[in-house]
Amino acid sequence: MAECLIRAEKVSKHYRLGEETVRANDEVSLEVTAGGFYALTGPSGSGKTTLLDILGCLDTIDSGRLTAFGRDVSRMRESQLVTVRRGNIGFMFQDFMLVDTLTVRENVELGLALSRSPGSPDRVEEIIGTVGLHPRRGHLPKQLSGGERQRAALARALVSSPRVLIADEPTGNLDSRNSEAIYSLFKELNEREGLTIVVATHDAELAARAGTILSMIDGRIVP
Ligand SMILES: Nc1ncnc2c1ncn2[C@@H]1O[C@H](COP(=O)(O)OP(=O)(O)O)[C@@H](O)[C@H]1O
Ligand SMILES: [Mg+2]
Repeated sequence: MAECLIRAEKVSKHYRLGEETVRANDEVSLEVTAGGFYALTGPSGSGKTTLLDILGCLDTIDSGRLTAFGRDVSRMRESQLVTVRRGNIGFMFQDFMLVDTLTVRENVELGLALSRSPGSPDRVEEIIGTVGLHPRRGHLPKQLSGGERQRAALARALVSSPRVLIADEPTGNLDSRNSEAIYSLFKELNEREGLTIVVATHDAELAARAGTILSMIDGRIVP
């Protein structure tokens, strides 16, 4: 049986807005197993980003239990969570989050520096090649198309060879041709390299590439 990398048990995250409590995640239980490809779908506000941030150890939980990479992270603070993320989790966002003043190669190198993993210049070149950006590696983000920017962001997320890729609406700002390039890369990385992927998406074609589709409504995963 595949190894369980991240386990959420009745995890809740609430926000207080004046008198009202927003149940962003409401007793969510989920197992992310090695080699899995999961798509989180559901309407805007249903809790997808909150759940990705929790699974990615970017955010704390209010109740329940979260285990990640063999550690109980339920009560950890940010200073401890960062050590769980490092080398284990890579992130991608809808708006790319590249540093505008750095080239593609420098953005990817930054991913390595932040993860503090023992990467090498060869690894940087290799991952830039994997996403098809060798000819663009000296370019700044503003000199790239949206699709190229997202592929640069993918290279940055993966340069430290994390076990899990967490992607929040990665094709939300891309046209269909550029989205297709992301679908193919995800599929290839998942199937050939065993990369575990958790993606939140409104894009039905992207969700269709996943092995498991999880639908969220009102902070819960619906059966
Ligand atoms: N930092 C926050 N403060 C207050 N409410 C929040 C915060 N983050 C998310 N929420 C609320 O939690 C719910 C779930 O949000 P989110 O996880 O972003 O959903 P989705 O990604 O599916 O659109 C929404 O009602 C949202 O307004
Ligand atoms: Mg969201």
